[in-house]
Amino acid sequence: MQISFTKNPNPGKMPPEDKLGFGSVFSDHMFVMDYTDEKKWHNARIVPYGPIEINPAASVLHYANEVFEGMKAYRWADDSIHLFRPMENAKRINISAERIGLPEIPTDIFVEAVREVVKVDKDWVPHSEGTSLYIRPFLFSLDPELALHGIHEAKFMIILSPSASYFAEGIKPVKIMLETEDVRAVRGGTGYTKCGGNYAASNRAGDRAMAKGYSQVLWLDGVHRKYIEEVGAMNVMFKIDGKVVTPSLENGSILGGITRKSCLEVLRSWGVPAEERLLSVDELIGAAESGKLEEAFGTGTAAVISPIGELFYNNKKYTVNGFKIGPVAQRLYDELTGIQWGKKPDPFGWTECV
Ligand code: PLP
Ligand code: COI
Repeated sequence: MQISFTKNPNPGKMPPEDKLGFGSVFSDHMFVMDYTDEKKWHNARIVPYGPIEINPAASVLHYANEVFEGMKAYRWADDSIHLFRPMENAKRINISAERIGLPEIPTDIFVEAVREVVKVDKDWVPHSEGTSLYIRPFLFSLDPELALHGIHEAKFMIILSPSASYFAEGIKPVKIMLETEDVRAVRGGTGYTKCGGNYAASNRAGDRAMAKGYSQVLWLDGVHRKYIEEVGAMNVMFKIDGKVVTPSLENGSILGGITRKSCLEVLRSWGVPAEERLLSVDELIGAAESGKLEEAFGTGTAAVISPIGELFYNNKKYTVNGFKIGPVAQRLYDELTGIQWGKKPDPFGWTECV
């Protein structure tokens, strides 16, 4: 692919790395590529990071035709920069695009675009432990028409944000509230995709949880309001009576997380039993009450492995593992971050130097 390059004449400065939060500082450049039905994907370019012009009638602003990805670039001790399973993100953005009716992006072009923009802004990959360059590819429709119709014009962009942990708590346990009113996704809907609309539907419950001192909500399924699905920005895993259990993806209402998939592969390689199945809230709360809920944690690119120290459900608080990170979550965290930062062998071949 031909990618034109316009250098940023006013480069910014990385803030002190101990002040990095999540997703609020952006690097000097961004990747942009346009789509029309006639020209297909064209005009790939890396340009200075900055505002873009958009027609007020662009259909994304009215009908939320947008999908995105989340991935990271990691700086290793020898200063080389690595991606983690980028082809998985390339495949997933197309699964999301197909559901929303957005044009798909050839997977090799997606990965090349990520590599090239990260290479240009490699000085923005932070050095400190636990920090990385968060990569946000996103794709949206531009058709300037209010009638509901198919998408014929779109844009694909990648922006880069040097970031630390998603949760201010870092690897310390977070408090999560089970949501019993709103639902995030339904069977046949868009739950399995990474589309902006899913997050819009989640805002109200997330705000209510935060107002009560909880980091995010844990969703129940939209049909029975009975089965555990996932958290706002991560999948969930529980250790119940010696076994790791995570909700299965078959209903199509949960995002198939790349961290989730990687954790399952790692757990199975260790011989730790890991089940993907329906898990009802009654079973989960029953396990918490009987002392069989040994651990709870979230998995996600931004969240990495986030131990859950407290669950709130029907006005009751359930402390998990004495509000401490459990051994399985800690071991997974060490293994995954060890592979990502090149501190441990990568037997699965998951990391790729840019
Ligand atoms: N579930 C939701 C709703 C998410 O937003 C994320 C984050 O991307 C995940 C799960 C975890 O997915 P992944 O591990 O691919 O980052
Ligand atoms: C990610 O983990 O990459 C995400 O997209 C989470 C985001 C919703 C903050």
